[in-house]
Amino acid sequence: MNRFGKFICKMSTKAEVQTFKTEILPVSKSAIHFDSNDQLTINDESTEKNLLKAAKILSSSDQVVAFPSETVYGLGGSSFNDESIKNIYKAKNRPADNPLITHISSISQINSFFNLEIPEIYKPLIKEFWPGPLTILLPINNNDNQNKLSKLTTANQPTFAVRLPSHPIARALIHLSQVPIAAPSANASTRPSPTLAQHVYHDLQGKIPLILDGGASNVGVESTVIDGLSNPPMLLRPGGVSLEEIKKIGGKNWENIQVAKKISDPNEPVKTPGMKYKHYSPTAKVILVNNEETIKKYISENSLEDKKIALLTTQFFQGNKFNGIVDHLGKSKEEISSNLFSFLRKIDELGVDLIFVESVDEKNEGLAIMNRLNKAASETI
Ligand code: TXA
Ligand code: MG
Repeated sequence: MNRFGKFICKMSTKAEVQTFKTEILPVSKSAIHFDSNDQLTINDESTEKNLLKAAKILSSSDQVVAFPSETVYGLGGSSFNDESIKNIYKAKNRPADNPLITHISSISQINSFFNLEIPEIYKPLIKEFWPGPLTILLPINNNDNQNKLSKLTTANQPTFAVRLPSHPIARALIHLSQVPIAAPSANASTRPSPTLAQHVYHDLQGKIPLILDGGASNVGVESTVIDGLSNPPMLLRPGGVSLEEIKKIGGKNWENIQVAKKISDPNEPVKTPGMKYKHYSPTAKVILVNNEETIKKYISENSLEDKKIALLTTQFFQGNKFNGIVDHLGKSKEEISSNLFSFLRKIDELGVDLIFVESVDEKNEGLAIMNRLNKAASETI
């Protein structure tokens, strides 16, 4: 991989297939500081230079940039520019009816970008969890400012999704771009979300001009998406902030929050995140397991003795008698979340045919972990 290669772009003779020499530029998150008035200082020259280069692409071209956030790496483009949004969908091969989250760098941008007051219901949650891994839905009421928001980001929903990330690199990039940034996870559609710059490179090399490398994303699963505009309020996607935390901090208005059902009708428009699509899948087949004893039986019943098999354990499985690759996702659910996608990718690269993964219970971070695993898995035994 060439870290310093020049960003070249050539048009193919076929219609509009743009290819890039994807550049990876390092940025140091410890060099970036926001004060309590959202003022930014950067005290490392090359970090500043690389951030400015990325910000320029976002603010003054139709192109996209991958960047680290505390949840997963995002693939950003200006929410005000239809062409940038089209380039996001194109690079990921993402279905056009799956809407995007718009990222801001300070709470005041909800007003300055969209001329909108934050609905009361979100205030206690924003106070506690922003900046951080929480995404809220806001109403689209077509005032002049909101008309600037690309319709392609919302995929015909009556709402748009907004998040203020806590990762200094993500925040600085948005701040310097001076535009709101639409950013899905920076994986190819259906693949596990990326938590390292190398994951993004693996999926999107040649398809985007630039990846900012800021090391590993710690949370490891995406943000929690909530809809406080519906009655009762909904948890659309479990993520970095748990259901229990939302009920506790949100107070009375959030006591009856409903968790969106896992599977929706394929003919319905996508109301809730990722429900319709296969997701988070490595190339190998993933099988969720509740009981270690059933693995042996499954292998023999399906004549899989000759296959290359891996087992990812969480809390209880030992894997001592397992004839294959064994790896431990982590002791706490926090650690399991943080490792989940990168371990699925790592094991996949070993060329295994089958990955058994030990389930966890759905309490706290467990709900987001099991949501991702259920989507990655083809069956549960
Ligand atoms: O942590 C995250 O949220 C990461 C980082 C990069 O910020 N982003 C991310 O984006 O996970 P993406 O596009 O992979 O997932 C966004 C989810 C989708 O499942 C989408 O359906 C849902 O948010 N979503 C976006 N706008 C929505 C809307 N207006 N109504 C309902 N769901 C919406
Ligand atoms: Mg995604």
